Amino acid sequence: MGTVDRNPRGADHAPSAGLDHESSVAEASLSRPARVPISTPAAGLIVSPGELPEIGMAELDERWVAKGGAVKWLLAAGLLRKLAAIARSLVANELDLRDWMSQTPVADFRNDRDEVWFDYIADTGDDALVMRGLARNIQREFKADSLGEDHPALPVGAFLFVGGDTAYHTSDETTLRRRFVTPWNAIHDAQHGAPTARQIFAIPGNHDYYDHLVGFNRLFRKPYPDGATSVLGLSGFYSTQEASYIRIQLPHEWELWGVDLQTHGLDYRQRLYFRDGERPKRLILCTPTPPVSFDRVLVDRNPEDKERKAYLQLLDPSPEPNPATLTPDFDPAFTPDSGGQMPAPGTCRLHLSGDDHHYARYNGQSVRDAAVSTSVATVVSGGGGAFTHPTEHSSGKLACAVKYPDPAFSRDRVAAALLNPLAVIDAGALYIVGAALACLFFFLWPEQWSSLLGPAVWTGCVVLSLGACVGSLLLARQLARWRTRRGKQSRASGIPVTHHRWEQLSELSVFVVPIGIVAAIAVPMLVHHFYPGMDPLSGSSLWLLSVTIFAGTLAAFASVRGTENLRGALPKIGFAVLGLAHAAIQIILPYLMVLRGWLFAGLAIAVILIVFSIPAKKMYHRAPAWLVTALWLVQGLGTMAALWWGPDRHVDPGWSAVFLAIVVGGIVVPMQFGFYLLTCSAWNGHNNEAGITARITECKQWIRFHVTKDALTGYVIGIENPTVRDPQPKLIDRFVIAPAREPTPDKPV
Ligand SMILES: [Fe+2]
Repeated sequence: MGTVDRNPRGADHAPSAGLDHESSVAEASLSRPARVPISTPAAGLIVSPGELPEIGMAELDERWVAKGGAVKWLLAAGLLRKLAAIARSLVANELDLRDWMSQTPVADFRNDRDEVWFDYIADTGDDALVMRGLARNIQREFKADSLGEDHPALPVGAFLFVGGDTAYHTSDETTLRRRFVTPWNAIHDAQHGAPTARQIFAIPGNHDYYDHLVGFNRLFRKPYPDGATSVLGLSGFYSTQEASYIRIQLPHEWELWGVDLQTHGLDYRQRLYFRDGERPKRLILCTPTPPVSFDRVLVDRNPEDKERKAYLQLLDPSPEPNPATLTPDFDPAFTPDSGGQMPAPGTCRLHLSGDDHHYARYNGQSVRDAAVSTSVATVVSGGGGAFTHPTEHSSGKLACAVKYPDPAFSRDRVAAALLNPLAVIDAGALYIVGAALACLFFFLWPEQWSSLLGPAVWTGCVVLSLGACVGSLLLARQLARWRTRRGKQSRASGIPVTHHRWEQLSELSVFVVPIGIVAAIAVPMLVHHFYPGMDPLSGSSLWLLSVTIFAGTLAAFASVRGTENLRGALPKIGFAVLGLAHAAIQIILPYLMVLRGWLFAGLAIAVILIVFSIPAKKMYHRAPAWLVTALWLVQGLGTMAALWWGPDRHVDPGWSAVFLAIVVGGIVVPMQFGFYLLTCSAWNGHNNEAGITARITECKQWIRFHVTKDALTGYVIGIENPTVRDPQPKLIDRFVIAPAREPTPDKPV
C-alpha cells in the first residue's frame, strides 16, 4: 500500500495570523490529499493511487456538482432511504460514541502571535452549487473595503471551524463526499494560489450523529497512522482532531471551545478536558445548537436539563479546575438582556452555533451598530449552505441586531415558494402520497352516513389499542429513566438505593410493552366477538379508520412539530385545531373535485391559485396572522361549499375517475399543504417545515473572526445568490466582543 504526502506542519508552525496570498503560493506546491476511494475503508486508511478507479471519478463528481439541486425533504426517496439509518441512530446512540474517542491535545495558536484570523461555518452540505459558491469565497482573502462597505483587509483564516450538520440528510460518507467535499475540492483545484494546508476543526450536529459519527470521523478525525490521508480528503486542509470536541488556545487569553452536546450532554471526559486548568477569561463557546434563537432563550430553566447542566458545568465561576460541585445559584447570561449573570469584569464570552439555518446576532442591541462592543452575545450562524429557516419568525422579546436573510426578504421568498404548488411538489414526494390518499378517500367514500356505526366501533377499538401500545411504550421508557435517575442520585450521595416494595413493582415494566401489544390485538377481537355486525374488512371501516388516523396524525403533527419554537399550552391547542382543519380540507376538497369532474376540478384549482394565493402572498407580508388564517379557511371551506352546493354533477367511477383522482390528489394535497404551512408560519409555527418546503438557496453566510489584544471581531460575509458562477460576497454584519471593564477606584463598574 503506498502512501500519500500530506502537510507535516502542525498548527504551531503556521506562518501568520491569517493565511495570506504569499504563504498560499508557497504552500501550493504541497501535494493534495488523494481523492476518495469507492469503498469505505476505516478512518485514516492510507489510500493507494492504485486503488482509485480507472474512470475519472473527479469528473463524475464535478458533473454531479454542476447539476446542483437542494436536498428534498417531503417524503422524498432520498430521505426514506436514510430513515432506517436515522431510526437506528436513535437506538445506537444510546451508547455514548465518545467512549471510543481519544482525548485531542489542546490546539495552540498562540506562539507569540499578536492576532489570529479564523473562519467559522455551520450547516453546510446541501445544494452542491451553493457549497461551491461558498467554498470559492471562504478560501479567498478580501482586500480592504471590497465587500461593499468600510472594513480592513480580511486574510484567510489560519484554521476553519465547522460547527455541525456537515451534510444532509445524514452526514454519511457518500453524502459528505457529494455535497461537501467534492464542491469544495473542485473549487480548490480551480483556484490557483488558494491557501492550502490549513487546519480544520469541527463539532458534530444531529445530522452527523444520524450516521453514528462515521462520516464525521472520516472527514474530521486525524488519520491513522501518522502520515495517512483522510478517507474524505478535503483539499487544502488537514486534521489533528481525535474526538468530537476540541479546545483551541488563541492569543491574549482567548480560547475557543468546540463542545459536543449531542445525545448525552456534557460527559465527564469533556468536563475534564475543558476545565483542566484556569478558566479562560475570553471564551468563544461553540455548541451544536444555540442557547438563544428566534428572539428567546432556548435553554430550559430546569437545572437538571442536560443542556442547562452542560452550560453550568462549563461556565461555573469557581476558580478551581473541574469543580466537584456547582456554584449554587449560578445562572449564566447568554445575552445582555437574557437575564442571568453577566461575565465578570475583565472577562467576556461569545456563544456561537449553527443549527438554525440563518444568521442572527443577539447582543442586546436592536439595531446594527458595530461600534458598540459587548461582553456577552449569542450569534446564530447556520447559513453555511443548508435550506434557510425563515427569519420572520419570532417567539420572544430579546433584542436582535441583525438577521440574514432580512425578515422582509425571507417573507417574500417563503410565501412565493409555499404558494407555488410546483415548488411544493418539487420539494419531495408529497404528490405521490396525495394521489394515493385522494384515490383511497374517493373510492371508499361511504354511501350513507348511517352505515358508519359498525366502522365507528371498529375504529374506536383500533385507536384504543394503538393508544395502549404507545402508552405502554412511553410508560416503560419513563420507568426506566426513573430508575436510572434513582441510581445516579444514590451514587452521588453515596447511599445505596433502598427499594421499597412499591418500587420493586417497577420491575414489572418489562411486561408493560408486551401487555400493550397483546391489548392492541385482543381488544378489537373481543369487541368483534360481542358485536358481530362490525366488519373490519368493509370499505367503510377502512375509510373511517384511514380518516381518523390521518386527522389524528395531522393534528399531532401541528401540535408537536408546529409549536417547536413556541412556549405554553395555548399554541399547542391552537395548532391542533389548525391541524384538524388542514386534515378536513385535505380529505374533503380532493373528493369533491373528483366528484364534480375534470372541468370543475380545474376551475376550482384555478380559482384557488388566482383568487386566494395572490392576496395570501401580500397578506403574509403585512396582515395580522388571524387574517391570513381567515383567508386560508375561506379558500378551503369556501371552495368545498361551492363544489358541494354548486354543480349538480357526479363523475362515473371508472378509469377516468382514477386518473382524475391521481391528478387532483397530486396537485391539491401539496397545494393545500403549502397554504397550511404559510398560515402556521404567520403564527411563528412550523419553522423547520416551512424551511424544508421552501428550500431557499439564497442568502448564505459564514464568519471570519479576528482575535486581537483588545477584542474579538466577527466579520459576517454573506452571499445573496451562491448558485451563480461568480457569486458576489458582501459584508452583512460586524460585531465586537470585548471584556467588561475592570473596576477602578475612581470608576466602579
Ligand atoms: Fe442544520
